[in-house]
Amino acid sequence: MCGIVGYVGSSKSVEVLLGGLRRLEYRGYDSAGIAVIDDAGLMNTRKRAGKLQVLVDELDRSPLGNGGTGIGHTRWATHGGPNDANAHPHLGDDGKLALIHNGIIENFAELKAELLASHPDTVFTSETDTEVAAILVGIEYQRTGDLAEALRQVVSRLHGAFTLLAMHQDAPGVVVGARRNSPLVIGLGDGENFLGSDVAAFVEHTRRAVAVGQDQIVTIGADSVSVTDFDGIPVEVTEFEVSWDASAAEKGGWSSFMAKEISEEPEAIAKTLLGRVVDGGIKLSELDGIGDDALLAINRVVILGCGTAAYSGMLGKYAIEKWARIPVDVELSHEFRYRDPVIDGNTLVVSISQSGETMDTLMAVKYAIEAGARTLSICNTQGATIARESDAVIYTHAGPEVAVASTKAFVAQVAALYLFGLHLARVRGTLSSPEIAGLAAELQALPDQLAIVLEQHDAIKQLAGWMTDTRSVLFLGRHAGYPVALEGALKLKELAYIHAEGFAAGELKHGPIALIEAGQPVFVIVPSPRAKDSLHKKVVSNIQEIRARGARILAIAEQGDAAVLPYADVVIPIPLASTLFEPLLAVAPLQIFAMELASAKGLDVDQPRNLAKSVTVE
Ligand code: G6P
Repeated sequence: MCGIVGYVGSSKSVEVLLGGLRRLEYRGYDSAGIAVIDDAGLMNTRKRAGKLQVLVDELDRSPLGNGGTGIGHTRWATHGGPNDANAHPHLGDDGKLALIHNGIIENFAELKAELLASHPDTVFTSETDTEVAAILVGIEYQRTGDLAEALRQVVSRLHGAFTLLAMHQDAPGVVVGARRNSPLVIGLGDGENFLGSDVAAFVEHTRRAVAVGQDQIVTIGADSVSVTDFDGIPVEVTEFEVSWDASAAEKGGWSSFMAKEISEEPEAIAKTLLGRVVDGGIKLSELDGIGDDALLAINRVVILGCGTAAYSGMLGKYAIEKWARIPVDVELSHEFRYRDPVIDGNTLVVSISQSGETMDTLMAVKYAIEAGARTLSICNTQGATIARESDAVIYTHAGPEVAVASTKAFVAQVAALYLFGLHLARVRGTLSSPEIAGLAAELQALPDQLAIVLEQHDAIKQLAGWMTDTRSVLFLGRHAGYPVALEGALKLKELAYIHAEGFAAGELKHGPIALIEAGQPVFVIVPSPRAKDSLHKKVVSNIQEIRARGARILAIAEQGDAAVLPYADVVIPIPLASTLFEPLLAVAPLQIFAMELASAKGLDVDQPRNLAKSVTVE
């Protein structure tokens, strides 16, 4: 993972770099560092373990001279612990070259051994794979006198995933970058240019961007940008406009990005639906890249994702199977490709990823492409690698999600999957136009309904405040409530570091019920008693079973559901929604609960320990 930023221009590079790192810190936050060529033309680096603020404080105490060229890095440790020495940048060529890296260089041990054999005097100051690359690029620069060429020579020897940025004090005004399997985007300014792990790195300066392709090298100067492949052949690039501005990624008065992002959920759904429900029909022109004939030919759908995205995929499965009558499997991306799965040209692989950069999902998509499958991705980040690798992409329009634990992206992903399910049902003729129009109308009602649910934030905060000593919380749901239970448990683990597990309520009696003892808090997602095909009665029976064994019941149930009241210690009411739509209303209370419990424990809800938002290593 890690976030990287590069800058060449006439602004103070330290400020530009720190601004970029602040927006990229969600990618990793165990150490941070920058390198700039100072006023005297010398390479200067500063790097510190801990969050970015530690580095900022250090730079406040002892500022760096400002040149207009620099690179910056925020780290999520892979090789070597999170300490000052392992923080990036790493140096080569006697300290004249600085290099930063996102990814893993898998053959670094072999390269290090070769380096020590050919250059026995080499001194390593860190345990990282990155330092090996920095020293190698330094040696190649000495030989070639050309930074892009030096990088090109080195990347051909690297195995694994990497985005590398490098600068050299003898080549001021130039930053070079290379990417393989990790993201890199160029920001095009006026008399200045930027590089970043994603557009957040530079969106406060420019919204004109270019996504660097796989196995490409980029060189930026203040007035120039050139891109080649790894063989040095020039590559045509396509510019795109970033659709959100810097203010969208600011907290805007909220206590945390997560609080802000939960509050934006109604808008995230509404924007994802915008222009895609027309006169009661579904309009997904993005799918033209696949075409109705190809969609008719598929006989199976495989949905891939990790973490929260995989849980949205479970809801996608329920909806697509019900509406489009086609078998759907949901798999964790990292399990998928290593077990020789059965997929072919008649399989549609739908990958889900907020970032569009999750390495496990990217690799699974590439595997699917090689196996001849059709690929569709559901991504939130424009120009992301997974989106570009796929035959078609449905973008969720949730806006930038900064908090590490995913919230608004989840509801937007489910909305996008449901749109796709309805589209497929139309193509396959499994739902009539009035049926599609009815379901589309239910989708469109969700933003207003969800806004009503969010009004209970304070009540849920109070509940969370009472539970700060809780050591374990269970979550139960059935059918569409089951992925919600899993997501509720994941949120609590991620944010509050509390043991939490989600179960399918029907599975309870097959084992997990043994966990229930007096006082055990259990959240239960109760389906509406009024919805068609509702499993309401069965879930109420499950509640009675655990209550009889001493569980404290925290129910999320339809407003006025009288059958739940006698058995629940707490009821969080939600508006009436049919079975498949209820998850989009039921998940927010669990997100708020986890966030407020973590806050009450004094934890950082935007940057939980050990995590990173975009996991770009396998
Ligand atoms: C990380 C994050 C999760 C996220 C998952 C998938 O594990 O901590 O919040 O759900 O990655 O991310 P993606 O960008 O692929 O949706």
